[in-house]
Amino acid sequence: MRVHHIGYLVKDINKAAKSHELLGYKGRGDVSYDEARDADMLFLENGDYLIELVAPRGETSVAWNLLKKHGNIPYHICYETNDINATMEELIKSGFVPLGTVAEAPAIGTNADVAFLISRDIGLIELVVETPSEKK
Ligand code: NI
Repeated sequence: MRVHHIGYLVKDINKAAKSHELLGYKGRGDVSYDEARDADMLFLENGDYLIELVAPRGETSVAWNLLKKHGNIPYHICYETNDINATMEELIKSGFVPLGTVAEAPAIGTNADVAFLISRDIGLIELVVETPSEKK
């Protein structure tokens, strides 16, 4: 599966963006607040690579404890799929455990849905499907 982005957990999204700029990344859009995840988000591009900065705002964010425990770290790789439900089913059959259900991902796009799964062997991954607007 093609890698869509690498999720990067950070304490300070503006400082993290500046440091990534030194490494050749450019911001794609502005920082946006994701209410469902209680986190600020920003996508950064460097050639074909896309990084998603995620800065949890408080304890209600699912990523808060991860940030507290590990500090600033890349914490998931997101893979593109054409059929998120079928891909999830397949991975679950092979031992992946879903974290919650399929949810909208406004920071990626208005027609993007994502889902998170955990593998005992590789940890957290994300799936993304981007549906053309006329289909939704
Ligand atoms: Ni992500």
